[in-house]
Amino acid sequence: MGEPADRARFRVHHLRLFAADGAEDELRAVAADLVARIRPAGRADLVEAVLRPLPMRTVLGRLGLDPGLADDLGAHAATARLLHGVVLDNGDQVRSAQAMAALWQACRAAVAAQPADGPLAGVGDVDDRTELVVQAVLSGPASTTALLGNALLRLLGTPDWDALAADPARLDGLVDDCLRHATPVVLWRREATKAVTVDGAALPAGARVLVHLGAANREPGPPLTFGSGAHACPGADLVRAHLRAVLATLAAQLPGLRREPGPAPALTREIGLHGPTELSVTWDRSATPVNVPAQR
Ligand code: HEM
Repeated sequence: MGEPADRARFRVHHLRLFAADGAEDELRAVAADLVARIRPAGRADLVEAVLRPLPMRTVLGRLGLDPGLADDLGAHAATARLLHGVVLDNGDQVRSAQAMAALWQACRAAVAAQPADGPLAGVGDVDDRTELVVQAVLSGPASTTALLGNALLRLLGTPDWDALAADPARLDGLVDDCLRHATPVVLWRREATKAVTVDGAALPAGARVLVHLGAANREPGPPLTFGSGAHACPGADLVRAHLRAVLATLAAQLPGLRREPGPAPALTREIGLHGPTELSVTWDRSATPVNVPAQR
């Protein structure tokens, strides 16, 4: 997110704004509220009903922005992300640029209306604060939604999902598994600040490298889902809390949750971000939901 200078400048604020302390309980409450709205229907598109609104609401809340902006900002961000597309025609480029301008303007107006002592206090001037907000709104919710969708595609219909519904203690293992194997951000750019040899490949200083995080996660070693080192994702713990909250809440509140029969869901058409754009599911309306399991 952003160019290197911005990222270094904003990092201390990112770590503060997107810290995960106490987030899981709050996320479970919001997820339970979203699930309660769809439960009587017995079927839903989970992306639209839960996986998209939840992270957008979190990010706006952390930035001190009105949750009522979620739909507008989400629509601008989705169109702006056309620029990340696998296939990009001239119309997409124009629409993306226009949406980026609209996103900037809407964020700038919201930032300018904030009280001086809001969460963005200390982030520089109004343009700096807008830049931070635009970057966060553009990428954070979409990546989190994609991870949640990938995780459910991986788990629904497997014995692991049934086991989680019966035994919430399985959550830790499944979350770790999904963070490695349901990687949403599959590609990331890095630049070599000095000459280095990686696994026998010599990279000169200044080399631009496209790191395939999805492939790296198939190798032994720690998962690289959130990158690593000085620029590792500052939202990682908050994202993990989303994954825990969503899996636990769905398993407890929607007994018999399963994908609707039919073709595989459509996926994001982005080079670097993989996830389902819809996830049609059904559940047993007559079964009694269990209490949302307490946080470990
Ligand atoms: C599943 C969701 C997410 C994934 C998979 C993800 C992944 C990543 C990755 C791979 C990087 C690059 C790390 C590196 O260069 O080593 C990164 C950086 C970053 N991410 Fe995330 N991210 C996610 C969600 C979020 C959220 C919710 C936020 C906050 C709204 C966020 C904010 C950032 C920022 C600000 C950076 C740049 C950090 C820096 O350069 O100092 N991310 N993320």
